[in-house]
Amino acid sequence: MPGLGAVATTMIAGVLLARRGQGALVGSLTQMGTIRLGKRTDNRVPRINEFVPLARLDDLVFGGWDIFPDSAYQSAIHANVLGRDHLDRVRDELETIEPMTAVFYPECVRRLHGTHIKRARSKAEMVELVREDIRRFRATNGCDRLVAIWCGSTESHVEPSQVHQSMEAFEAGLRRDDPGIGNSQIYAWACLKEGVPFANGAPNLTVDFPAAWQLAHEHRVPIAGKDFKTGQTLMKTVVAPGLKARMLGIRGWFSTNILGNRDGEVLDDPGSFKSKEVSKLGVLDYILQPEVYAALYGDLFHKVRIEYYPPRGDAKEGWDNIDLFGWLGYPMQIKIDFLCRDSILAAPIVLDLALLLDLAQRAGMKGIQEWLSFYFKSPMTAAGLYPEHDLFIQLMKLKNTMRWMRGEPPITHLGHEYYD
Ligand SMILES: NC(=O)c1ccc[n+]([C@@H]2O[C@H](COP(=O)([O-])OP(=O)(O)OC[C@H]3O[C@@H](n4cnc5c(N)ncnc54)[C@H](O)[C@@H]3O)[C@@H](O)[C@H]2O)c1
Repeated sequence: MPGLGAVATTMIAGVLLARRGQGALVGSLTQMGTIRLGKRTDNRVPRINEFVPLARLDDLVFGGWDIFPDSAYQSAIHANVLGRDHLDRVRDELETIEPMTAVFYPECVRRLHGTHIKRARSKAEMVELVREDIRRFRATNGCDRLVAIWCGSTESHVEPSQVHQSMEAFEAGLRRDDPGIGNSQIYAWACLKEGVPFANGAPNLTVDFPAAWQLAHEHRVPIAGKDFKTGQTLMKTVVAPGLKARMLGIRGWFSTNILGNRDGEVLDDPGSFKSKEVSKLGVLDYILQPEVYAALYGDLFHKVRIEYYPPRGDAKEGWDNIDLFGWLGYPMQIKIDFLCRDSILAAPIVLDLALLLDLAQRAGMKGIQEWLSFYFKSPMTAAGLYPEHDLFIQLMKLKNTMRWMRGEPPITHLGHEYYD
């Protein structure tokens, strides 16, 4: 994991605790979920991790890069997500996880000043240094396979430019230090070259541009992104499809958050917030289809704010005010106040993505893994294809992909056979 901060250390500590039988991996579909096979009367409902051959928790080793030298233990203490009682039970293992030096061009994340960083003459050389790290990590830990998940800070918003359009243009850009190539793209490029599947937990460009898609295809590597779907957006992709299913109209949706962790501090910078805003705003447009349902959603005013408020730490509070209307246009309101915990919601996503990307690679799947949209605020899709945001359609797609991988028929929910 590039970025050994709150999310990454919460995930690692959780897996280490679960391995010792001292914690339940709540929120993880791969660890807790089941999958129905065949008819409802067949009674075949295995656990997902018994149905598809996922790596076992006991076989995992963890590593990462960070711009600060803190071990996973120190970083977890700093993040203050898990209590000392939990962390101290796995302290010995967490202390051995020390970050490798980071790729850090500070213009990508203005609020951070890293000290634990690599020096190179060009971005091309930087890619080579990360590739050496990957090979060393693989050899030192005796790993058969690797997966990378970006858990680093959100970078400033960058639109794809000429340099992102082809592999040749990107390689040339690396050699001349093109400013459009940010830290996360350098890690991703190195991972893809090493055949390591890559998922992007932040809204950065990272692996979502034509050159990266092409490289992933050529090296037969699965990729996925962008931006873990955790608190407010999770609620939005649950509630919005419900209102739309009943053809209720929406005039306004105002969402605001307060959070006080380092992620919140980084998002206080307008450049980083812009990346998040783009990622958070897209959701409703795709779910509600205002161009098709102009009378219901044509005038929808959607606004998203994130406020950095240190006293809350990782315990984020997300408010939603929804101004909706029903029969004859009569107005109603819904208020949601989600007192959530950011990293507690994100950690299971990191674990699931690592296991599922590894599975995808072994199944010969390469390039964008749209079936993993379930986990993302802003799912990556093939060029020209709109993303699917509805959580329940995403879940069906994910489970049907697993059935397809194992030669089981997909479930359509048609169900006429029970009545014929
Ligand atoms: N619910 C969630 O927590 C959630 C949801 C969606 C997305 N995310 C995203 O996940 C990412 C991680 O969130 P977090 O709460 O763990 O943040 P964090 O600030 O605690 O951790 C990020 C870590 O990345 C490190 N970092 C920054 N630039 C780096 C670089 N170039 N190389 C290596 N390390 C680098 C930082 O030093 C920090 O330790 C953020 O981008 C965040 O926006 C989180």
